[in-house]
Amino acid sequence: MGTTTTSSVIPTLPGRYYTDPEIFALEQRRIFETMWFCVVRSADLAKPGAFKTVQVGTENMLVSRARDGSVRAFYNVCRHRGAIICTEESGEVKRAFQCSYHAWTYDLDGKLIAAPNLAKMADLDRTEYGLVNVHVREWLGYVWICLADEPPSFEEDVMGAVTDRLGALDLIGNYDVAELEVGRRIVYEVKANWKLIVENFMECYHCATIHPELTEVLPEFADGYAAQYFVGHGAEFGEDVEGFTVDGSAGVDRIPGVSADQDRRYYAITVKPQVFINLVPDHVILHRMFPLAVDRTVVECDWLYLPEVVASGKDLDKSVELFHRVNQQDFEACERCQPRMGSRTYAKGGVLVPSEHHISAFHEWVQERIG
Ligand code: FES
Ligand SMILES: [Fe+2]
Repeated sequence: MGTTTTSSVIPTLPGRYYTDPEIFALEQRRIFETMWFCVVRSADLAKPGAFKTVQVGTENMLVSRARDGSVRAFYNVCRHRGAIICTEESGEVKRAFQCSYHAWTYDLDGKLIAAPNLAKMADLDRTEYGLVNVHVREWLGYVWICLADEPPSFEEDVMGAVTDRLGALDLIGNYDVAELEVGRRIVYEVKANWKLIVENFMECYHCATIHPELTEVLPEFADGYAAQYFVGHGAEFGEDVEGFTVDGSAGVDRIPGVSADQDRRYYAITVKPQVFINLVPDHVILHRMFPLAVDRTVVECDWLYLPEVVASGKDLDKSVELFHRVNQQDFEACERCQPRMGSRTYAKGGVLVPSEHHISAFHEWVQERIG
């Protein structure tokens, strides 16, 4: 063996990983339906009976708040003959979910409590034929669910991803994310495979080309190295920048726990498979991706601020506009790639340059998961 030279280029995944419905089906089963998946903001389920329906892999899930204040997540499937129970994306029931087909009725714990002629079916076990629930955790003010019978460790998979990026878990604690409030939410329909969105989020090789506003605020991004490249590193605001806003003007009230080291810095975290967390001194931006098809992903993005900032009615436009533009620029770029993933010239994929090399760990991870 001679001397080892590190190649400056590493291959990406082959094009079919972004276009083949069979690969997407494997990802649904072996990634989205087995890992912790962040579904809703806890505060969106304000009181008992409030619900949201969300797509997780191939399943439609009904996430709701029970009488005791805890959050439950059920398969949105009637146990009688399989009709979908809640067809709305969100809503509120008084005390029960009723199937609109033959009126089987389930309480907020999922137990079957009523059905026409139920009294004549004494042997029908009301718990056994209740809605089927899945594992639920709440963290950072979000509801995370896992469809696996035996979920992976939340501490390792979800909290571990944050620790790996920041260097220590309590560094996100400083932002008190659970106590913040949604100041703005924008939902993006992206015509691209979910992995293109993850890859794009992980690198900053594109920042100088497509993110003029962001590179003004974070000048080091113009060099192409993403904050995610180095453990614990947050990209520093430019000297004349007052806040993380579209024009670098002052932001809103700083989150009190943010340390001096974290001030005037931007941190980005990827929590596989579908969450991005962005931390800046006065707000947190959290993306949840819902991969709906091999070439279609819905991204729900929340801008979270101190409750008093939201209550004050302060103008958040300049604050929101910066990352809204970044999102639009990023998603347009992903949509420029998606249609050509099926090109014969991309059958073997493309290449990763040095500032993108860390993306290959994501590719290896996807290949391992789907076998
Ligand atoms: S399918 Fe729901 S009550 Fe019959
Ligand atoms: Fe970007």
